[in-house]
Order: sequence, then C-alpha cells, then structure tokens
Amino acid sequence: MGSLPLEKVEQSFDVLIIGAGISGINSAYRLQSSFPQYRYAILEARDRIGGTWDLFRYPGIRSDSDLYTFGFPWYPWNRSNPIAEGKDILQYLNDAATEHKIKPNIYFNHHVLKAEWDQQRWMVNVESNGIKSQFSARFIIFGTGYYDYHEPLDAEIPGLQNFQGDVIHPQFWPEKFDYTDKNIVIIGSGATAVTLLPKLSEKAAKVTMLQRSPSYVVSIPNPASHSWLGRLLPTSWVYRFNRIRYLLIARFMFIICRRYPVASRGFLTKLMASQLPVGISVDPHFKPSYSPWEQRLCLCPDGDFFKSLRSGKGQIETGIIKTVDADGIQLTSGKKLSTDTIVTATGLKMQLAGRIDIVVNGERIDFSQKYIWNGFMLQDVPNAGFVIGYTNASWTLGAEASIAMICRILKQMESKHASVAVPTLKDPSKLETRSLMNLKSTYIARAREHMPKASSQRPWVPKEDYLSDMYFAKYGNITEGLKLTT
Ligand SMILES: Cc1cc2nc3c(=O)[nH]c(=O)nc-3n(C[C@H](O)[C@H](O)[C@H](O)COP(=O)(O)OP(=O)(O)OC[C@H]3O[C@@H](n4cnc5c(N)ncnc54)[C@H](O)[C@@H]3O)c2cc1C
Ligand SMILES: *[C@@H]1O[C@H](CO)[C@@H](O)[C@H](O)[C@H]1NC(C)=O
Ligand SMILES: *[C@@H]1O[C@H](CO)[C@@H](O)[C@H](O)[C@H]1NC(C)=O
Ligand SMILES: *[C@@H]1O[C@H](CO)[C@@H](O)[C@H](O)[C@H]1NC(C)=O
Repeated sequence: MGSLPLEKVEQSFDVLIIGAGISGINSAYRLQSSFPQYRYAILEARDRIGGTWDLFRYPGIRSDSDLYTFGFPWYPWNRSNPIAEGKDILQYLNDAATEHKIKPNIYFNHHVLKAEWDQQRWMVNVESNGIKSQFSARFIIFGTGYYDYHEPLDAEIPGLQNFQGDVIHPQFWPEKFDYTDKNIVIIGSGATAVTLLPKLSEKAAKVTMLQRSPSYVVSIPNPASHSWLGRLLPTSWVYRFNRIRYLLIARFMFIICRRYPVASRGFLTKLMASQLPVGISVDPHFKPSYSPWEQRLCLCPDGDFFKSLRSGKGQIETGIIKTVDADGIQLTSGKKLSTDTIVTATGLKMQLAGRIDIVVNGERIDFSQKYIWNGFMLQDVPNAGFVIGYTNASWTLGAEASIAMICRILKQMESKHASVAVPTLKDPSKLETRSLMNLKSTYIARAREHMPKASSQRPWVPKEDYLSDMYFAKYGNITEGLKLTT
C-alpha cells in the first residue's frame, strides 16, 4: 500500500461487513441475531448510514419499489404509502439501525482500500481521515452496493463541453441549485428521469425529458393514509399482509409479462395512452423497443409523471443527439431544443466490491475471470460473501437471500469445525457462460466485462428470485463446489 505508516493497531473481528447501506444493515441484523457470540463491525466510507439514500440528493428522489418489499422484514414500514421519499427511507434506515443497536458497531469514515487473504484471515486496509489502519477478520461480507460512488456512467454526449449553461448529474446534485423558471432538459428515460420531470416542473418554466429509447411508465396509487381496515388491524399484520401481497403481485407481473409479451405490451401501452395529453402520442414516446420487464418498469406514484405532461410544463422528446452547442441541443432530426440547464440522468457506472483490491494468497482477484458461486460467493475467494440484490425486484429481497445463504455457510463451518470455505472449480472449460444480471438496461450491458461470470449449472449460478433463493438458503446443497478446510 501507500507510503503512510500504519498508525493504528490492528483490530480483530469474527466478521467484517463493508458498507452501511441497506445490504450492510440487513447483514448486521441477521448476523447478530444468528450469531450473538460473534464480534463484528461495519466499515463505512461515508459519515452516515444509508448508502444510496444518503448519496443521492436530487429533487423528488424516491424509491421505485414498494417499501413493503424494499424495507426489512424485521422492521415494518408501517406507513400507508408504498412508494417513499428518499428522506423517509433514510430516516427508516436510521431508526432500524438505532433500535436494533447496530449503529455502535459501525466505524464511519472508514474507507476500505484493500482486503488481503493471508494465513487464513482477511487483513483489511482502511483509510480514515488520511490515517491508515488495519482490521482483520475470519469472514468478510461485501455490502458495497453495485455502482461507483465517485464516477457516474460516462454519458458520451457529443459537444457537451460547448454548453454555456449548467450541466448536472443526479448523482452529484448541487444542494442549493435553484431551478425556478429554468428551462431544463433531462437526458435519459430511466427511473431517475421519470422522477425528476414532475418534481422539477413544479418550479421550472419548462422541463423536457429527452430520451433515445422509451420506457414503460406505470402509475400506481400511493395513498397518504391507511384505509379503514389498515387503521383497525395491528401494524405488524398490515405490514406482513402488504409484504406478501406485493411480493406476489411483482412475481405474477414478471411471469405474465415474460410469458405473454405481446399482450402485456398492449396492456401497458393502453394504460399509458389513456393518461397522455392530446399533443403527446404513444408512438414514438411510449413505444419501447423491448418487451415489459426485459428492463425494469418505471413506476410513478399517483401518475405524477403523466400529470406534469398534461399540465404542459413537462414535455417529452424522443431522438438522438447530434451535438450540444452553447445554448441547446441539436437532434439528428434537425430539431433544436433550447435550454439553460442539462441534467444527465444517464445512469450509474456498475462496480462490485467498492473498488476494493481483493488479494488472495498473493493473487489479485480479477472478477471477470471468476465464476459466481450460488449468487453470493466467488470462485477462489475464501470466507467472503457478496450481498447482491435483485434488479428485477426489490434489491432488499436479494440482500436478504444473500445473507441467509451466508449465515448458512457460517453455520456449516461451525458444525464441521472448518475455518476456511472456498468455492473451487476444477474445470471451468466445461461450463457455458451466461450473464450475471439478465436485464438489458444500458448500464448493465456496459458493465458486463467487469462482472463475475455465471453459468446456468449449479453451483455457478446467479440468484434467481426471492422464494427459490430463500428455499435454497435453507435446503440447497451447499457442499457442491465448496471446499471446507480446518
Ligand atoms: C437513485 C436510486 C434509486 C434506487 N431505487 C431503488 C428502488 O426503489 N428499489 C430497489 O430495489 N433498488 C433501488 N435502487 C438500487 C439501490 O442502490 C439498492 O436498492 C440499495 O439501496 C442498495 O443498497 P446497498 O446497501 O447494497 O448499496 P448502497 O446503498 O450503494 O450502499 C453501499 C455502501 O457501501 C459503502 N462502501 C462502498 N465501497 C466502500 C469501501 N471501499 N469502503 C467502505 N465503504 C464502502 C458506501 O459508502 C455505501 O454506504 C436505487 C438506486 C439509485 C441510485
Ligand atoms: C412503526 O414502526 C416502528 C418500528 O417498528 C415503531 O417504532 C412505531 O411505533 C410504529 N408506528 C406505529 C404507528 O405503529
Ligand atoms: C428475475 O430474473 C431472474 C433471472 O432471469 C428470474 O429467474 C426471476 O424470476 C426474476 N425475478 C422476479 C421477481 O420475477
Ligand atoms: C451435494 O453435492 C455433492 C457434490 O455434487 C454430492 O456429493 C452430495 O451427495 C450432494 N448432497 C445432497 C444432500 O444431495
């Protein structure tokens, strides 16, 4: 590592969790409930918990999953609105971590640079305010999310450097940015763009969403208060009921959309068309090139997106950027969009394990050369669990399945008196390779070469869906491809 001396003495734990976002907090809760005798700590680079929900501060930021499945099963989301604002999610995460005494185990402002497996232990190099220190642990859990915190996806917009107005990326929204009466163009068509349009158009003069390819936008009711039944029943019942309801609806929708792509496309198109104002047509603006659920659907609470289109302040443009000049955007169609502010809602740069150098017995691990093991461990990387959520359902469900599998491994190690568990693949040439995440979104497609490999043969498979993964966590064969040594 760098030239700074190690100024702090080593601290030793049973388990180290990296990251205090949803994945890290959930892992901590499960770990301390299943293994109260373990000493664990969370290392978090930021000053606060929440990860994504602390980093992203753009106006109107909210979930695009329902909080009944996006929340923790052990900490009920007992409000009536399934879609929640960013600040409420952050509050919820803080409350959950405080109430379950997870917070005292978090080392804030501890940025992990390197994790090295040596002599049956992980040695973890950390930087905190310029001071380097080392932690060690028997087992390590990566709750580092799936994207780069410091760099967004490079948008590759030609001529953007010529633009004289403000250019803003939602990942780094300037806190005091006043957009009153501005004429804004949002480039992008994902959840972020769909969230920003109605919010910005409350104050801006005009907001145009410029998309290259359209998405499905589905509005769902987001009631501000509980129904009479919800008020009558105990909150924990209501939560459990809603959780199961939303789990099943999402699963059902996914299966229907995949099995009947034509009919589901027709249905969603009709839903969208019925909410559009006269001047905006389905073709081309709401005519995606893919079938529903090949990419994540965009949800909008109470149809706010369509309301702002109907108000006339929100506009939509479908086209390809030829170039950006001083005062606007030229499309290849010849049309010019004049603007004073460009918001580049063009996505995240995917990354696993938070830029941490992982070194095993002197070899630096290159993710793209390794297979994933049952969706949560990596070939040749001992005693390490990767908490990866779902991209086609609430992330938290996948985080929950990941930690359930990790706990099962830890139990197995205890009962076999093993100190090392490492996925080992004797003959990789026999495996056919498939992609780790199956959505066709741009940012997932572009990250492929940095992601671990996956196959369709167990145990070298990604996670599937919540119910079958939880079943696997409980009953699956976890000895296949896993070498245990004492
Ligand atoms: C704007 C936005 C909206 C989203 N909405 C939804 C949604 O509605 N539903 C859904 O399912 N998913 C959504 N997602 C995906 C979302 O990121 C996940 O659902 C979830 O918040 C991820 O939690 P996490 O804990 O795995 O990762 P993160 O929230 O990214 O947290 C990772 C944590 O690890 C820390 N970390 C990373 N590297 C290091 C390091 N080297 N050393 C120390 N600490 C480190 C980070 O500082 C961070 O605190 C959204 C994502 C974005 C960007
Ligand atoms: C909502 O849930 C939290 C956490 O479980 C709890 O502390 C709070 O009292 C609940 N609120 C209501 C109205 O039940
Ligand atoms: C998500 O994708 C996986 C992989 O194709 C699939 O098996 C699973 O059913 C999908 N998830 C949901 C919630 O349906
Ligand atoms: C699990 O897989 C291993 C290796 O393929 C096999 O030997 C073992 O019998 C399996 N266990 C069960 C319970 O199926």
